[in-house]
Amino acid sequence: MTGRLYGLGLGPGDPELVTLKALRLLRAAQVVAYPAPKGGDSFARSIVAEWITPAQREIAIPFPMRPGPPPAALYDDAAEIIAAALDAGEDVAFLCQGDPFFYGSFAPIFTRLAARYPVTIAPGVSSLVACAAAAATPLVQRDETVTVIPATLPEAELARRLAECDSAAIIKLGRHAAKVQHALGGLGLLGDAIYVERASQARERVARFAEIDPASVPYFAMALVRRSRE
Ligand SMILES: C[S@@+](CC[C@H](N)C(=O)[O-])C[C@H]1O[C@@H](n2cnc3c(N)ncnc32)[C@H](O)[C@@H]1O
Repeated sequence: MTGRLYGLGLGPGDPELVTLKALRLLRAAQVVAYPAPKGGDSFARSIVAEWITPAQREIAIPFPMRPGPPPAALYDDAAEIIAAALDAGEDVAFLCQGDPFFYGSFAPIFTRLAARYPVTIAPGVSSLVACAAAAATPLVQRDETVTVIPATLPEAELARRLAECDSAAIIKLGRHAAKVQHALGGLGLLGDAIYVERASQARERVARFAEIDPASVPYFAMALVRRSRE
């Protein structure tokens, strides 16, 4: 019998936001897999480091540090390493920051393995709601809609989508922050935008996005914009 693959959402960074379910499944797995930057530490692993035991085998999947999506071959190789453990009858817990299916690195592993192995997903607290909580601002109310926009889009596309939405969460800010500030400024929305960096983590920072130096913006940051209808 093969093992079972678990996609575990671990939340935005604060270990207190790991769900009881994810923790139970993590503790029961023989193998723990996670993405890790080449030569660096895995952020997902760091959230639950205190609960991983020496008896569990760890598989660090090396992600390149360069910008842009990792090559498909990286996911092919990672899926086959995980498949070998599953074929050996071991349960594999794949660790994901936030939620596994909200821009999570688990999705490409899932698509490669879901037809071959039993899979269970434990949803996690996503950065989308963690950032709204950190900013102490409602994301949406009543019949409003929320649009999630990756900052990696070209500026014209960002502006087009921002022009249409009630509320927006602009993710993957990092080196795209200046472009996003410019797009928001062009729409008269920069003054309404809240910047949230490292929500729920020790170095959490919340500020008006207009006051942020774009050169200082890390990857774990987003901007929230909400047109008030009140
Ligand atoms: C590839 S997406 C992964 C999202 C993750 N799966 C989730 O559910 O939150 C990474 C982006 O999520 C946002 N993000 C994740 N964690 C965050 C945090 N703690 N604070 C602020 N933004 C965060 C950032 O915009 C970051 O660039």
